[in-house]
Amino acid sequence: MRLGMHTLTEGRGLLFGGDYNPEQWPEEVWAKDAELMRAAGVNLVTVGVFSWSRLEPEPGRHDFGWLDRVLDLMAAHDIAVDLAIPTASPPPWLGHRWPETLPVDERGQRLWYGSRNQYCPSSRVYRERSQSITTALAERYAGHPALAMWHVGNEYGEVCHCDASAAAFRDWLRARYGDLDTLNEAWGTTFWSQGYGDWAEIVPPRHAPYIINPTQRLDWWRFCSDELLAHFREQRDILRAHTPDLPITTNFMGLFKRVDYFSFAAEEDIVSNDCYPEPGNPRTPALTALTHDLMRGLGGGRPWLLMEQSTSAVNFRGHNLPKPPGQFRLESLQAVARGADGLCYFQWRASRFGAERFHAAMVPHAGEDTRLHAEVRAHGQELRRLASLAGQPVPARVAMVFDWASWWALEDRGRPSDRLNATEQLLDYYTPFFERGVSVDVVPPSADLSAYALVVVPNLFLVSDRDAAALTAYARGGGVLVVGPFSGVVDPNAHVRTGRFPAPLREVLGASGEEWLPVADGQVVRCRWRAAANPDTAGLDSAGPDSAGPDSAGPDSAGPDSAGSGGAEFGARAWTELLRSDGAEVVAEFAEGDLAGSPAVLRNRAGDGVAWYVGTMPDAAALGALAERALADAGVRGPLPGLPPGVEAVRRGDVLFLLNHGTSTVRVPIPEPADDLLTGSTAEGHVTLTSRAVAALRPHTPS
Ligand code: GAL
Ligand code: ZN
Repeated sequence: MRLGMHTLTEGRGLLFGGDYNPEQWPEEVWAKDAELMRAAGVNLVTVGVFSWSRLEPEPGRHDFGWLDRVLDLMAAHDIAVDLAIPTASPPPWLGHRWPETLPVDERGQRLWYGSRNQYCPSSRVYRERSQSITTALAERYAGHPALAMWHVGNEYGEVCHCDASAAAFRDWLRARYGDLDTLNEAWGTTFWSQGYGDWAEIVPPRHAPYIINPTQRLDWWRFCSDELLAHFREQRDILRAHTPDLPITTNFMGLFKRVDYFSFAAEEDIVSNDCYPEPGNPRTPALTALTHDLMRGLGGGRPWLLMEQSTSAVNFRGHNLPKPPGQFRLESLQAVARGADGLCYFQWRASRFGAERFHAAMVPHAGEDTRLHAEVRAHGQELRRLASLAGQPVPARVAMVFDWASWWALEDRGRPSDRLNATEQLLDYYTPFFERGVSVDVVPPSADLSAYALVVVPNLFLVSDRDAAALTAYARGGGVLVVGPFSGVVDPNAHVRTGRFPAPLREVLGASGEEWLPVADGQVVRCRWRAAANPDTAGLDSAGPDSAGPDSAGPDSAGPDSAGSGGAEFGARAWTELLRSDGAEVVAEFAEGDLAGSPAVLRNRAGDGVAWYVGTMPDAAALGALAERALADAGVRGPLPGLPPGVEAVRRGDVLFLLNHGTSTVRVPIPEPADDLLTGSTAEGHVTLTSRAVAALRPHTPS
């Protein structure tokens, strides 16, 4: 990408800053803000995300004076501005004069202004007004010395079910299917008398008596995502025409279901994300790492921007825990370690009024003479020591496949069990790699997989013939493939693929099934590792620099290895399948119930590679053991053996980050002397990390 993060980091190092909403404050405060920003090392602010009504108080009348002064002030203090296109929150006049711009829910209920996000993505008036404010901003600020990038909208995700949206949906369907016969076929409308004889009969999935046609719903998800993307593109094209050298972004929300971020990322210059980890949840560090890795994956490995995070408590949960000292720094450095070149916060100064007046900020209500602001300042300063990381890659030999369409198709009503969810499967399979410090790229099924030694597909309920063939070719060509349960079940129309499952993958897996058997809540199904049947199970002896296999023989290692641990048991929950081997080795079997003795986990020599199939939801320890076996097959290992629990290890460029998410002090052995970029000290033998401490280690160079 021509206009990547480097356009911002060159000469600035890592970016540090936040959303700046000066329109909430008298101008006297602005000068002080600028001074405080300088002192804190702020070099980027996002301005104007929610300023539409201030910038255009009535249709077509603009008031840019105040924004001119804000941008001039930022330029005078050498702070770059990420200028927002304020389309996420239209002014009341839009909904008042053109009620058709207000979104309509599934029950036909219009949503009002008085909050934010109240727009119909398909409304012609909204689209025109969006373009007009975009054009006005681009014309006025192109060439302003502070302007460094554009931020279109905010957290795209609106959905509308109105008649205009229905018409746009029909246009989208016409483009996809061409004629009604094809649509009827794709939607399977012979079921429940749903045949359409006229395009005008087709509506969005509105509130209905019972389960909506799954293909209609799937296409609706696709359409809604594409419609928002069309809105994004319209603003982007205007901005590009005025400022061809400035990068354009829109901020994501991690694993957010409504928008296919792979399609968005392909259309923007910089991937940016908003990240508000849930405090107190033991899975949070892994989930946060996973979303960071997704951001890297969305950009094809390029550095990304953490657009929003919080210094302390948010206000959108019912009970909002503050972050203890050191926590936001730990989270911020976690993002750096996983490829972020910029660390920004919502927001600079805590609001006195409005819906988010109890949301933490970089300058709290109590002012700058506070513990929190002192921490902000110290963090902004220390990021300078990491400037050399800007642009550095996070190398990964493992990929995890994730797909929005499959997610949409999977999590619909009327399936065997709603206990199996796409993002949960993703996190379950990701966690053992995270715990072992093995970096993972999150990629779409269409990605080029050839560079990866191991490809994990936690769930791919919907798969196209082409993607299934690519996965097959990947394994046959020497890769190691791991496929989770209920994958390969439907085609892109969400029609079940008939024959033994997973139909398009059963050949590479050397295994197939015939029944899905969800199990009762709370019931744990005992499974048993089988002793290795043949020496091949000891792993692929792929020689190479990385091929020593997993060297952490942690507590999870009682697993499917050939060293005689056959017979050990593990638990599985929620989901089982009636499977048989068609040539694959049965690595684990169900040990009780009607499936006792039948395969639960299989491993197949496929061409030059290996393919695993997991027909249940194994517990965390068993997934850990599986991950170790797959890593051994692939000849991949983490950067450090025996990481203490709670310690995250990840390499970026030549720097090894160690982050202690745990509550106690730990000693982490290191193989060679290293300099800690954050403290300037040299460590030998081991590093000691107190709770929430971080080390950024570069191999020691004698000074
Ligand atoms: C984000 C949003 C911000 C602010 C923040 C609060 O979702 O983009 O405008 O609302 O959450 O955490
Ligand atoms: Zn609408």
